Amino acid sequence: MPLRIVQGDIAAQDCAAVVTAANQKLMGGGGVDGAVHRAAGPELLRAIRRIGGTPTGTAVITPAFELEQRGVQGVIHAVGPIWRGGHSGEADLLAGAYRRSLELAVEHGCPCVAFPSISTGVYGYPTEQAAPVALATIQDFLSVHPDLEIRMVLYDAGSLQVYQRALAQLIG
Ligand code: APR
Repeated sequence: MPLRIVQGDIAAQDCAAVVTAANQKLMGGGGVDGAVHRAAGPELLRAIRRIGGTPTGTAVITPAFELEQRGVQGVIHAVGPIWRGGHSGEADLLAGAYRRSLELAVEHGCPCVAFPSISTGVYGYPTEQAAPVALATIQDFLSVHPDLEIRMVLYDAGSLQVYQRALAQLIG
């Protein structure tokens, strides 16, 4: 199964590429980003500060530093949109963050990508609306790159259920 939905901690995944939910200025943050930075060590923050920033709806890749011990080759810093009610292009920007992350993983030869639920924490994107966008973007990409393994990692049981339902609807 190229796309799996699991409950867990993104920082404990052994995928070649691990995605974190960052901000445009790549300043490091709390939530999922805090967990990834703690696991990867202080070199990660220095690496993203050197890059400086990336627009909403895009992503950048850095080495995985201490996460390399777990087989992670790269950390992808994806910038999802802040939720502003749904009429400010949020869905396109969210899809862009997933798509660019997937492109970076392929460009860097990563056979497996672990994603958190981008934008559904501090950025306030309702999980019920983010899940179909995330999963449709991943499925579209998988139709062109069927050998890629994608792991959607949800932190809490409620989000896990929302993503499971959204996947069931997507694949009919
Ligand atoms: N593993 C997996 N998922 C996690 C983890 C974890 N260790 N910790 C939190 N999450 C989940 C949250 O429950 C939420 O559903 O990740 C989702 C995204 O939440 P945030 O980390 O708040 O990300 P986001 O909403 O995209 O906000 C990004 O937060 O940390 C700052 O610098 C970051 O400014 C940026 C903003």
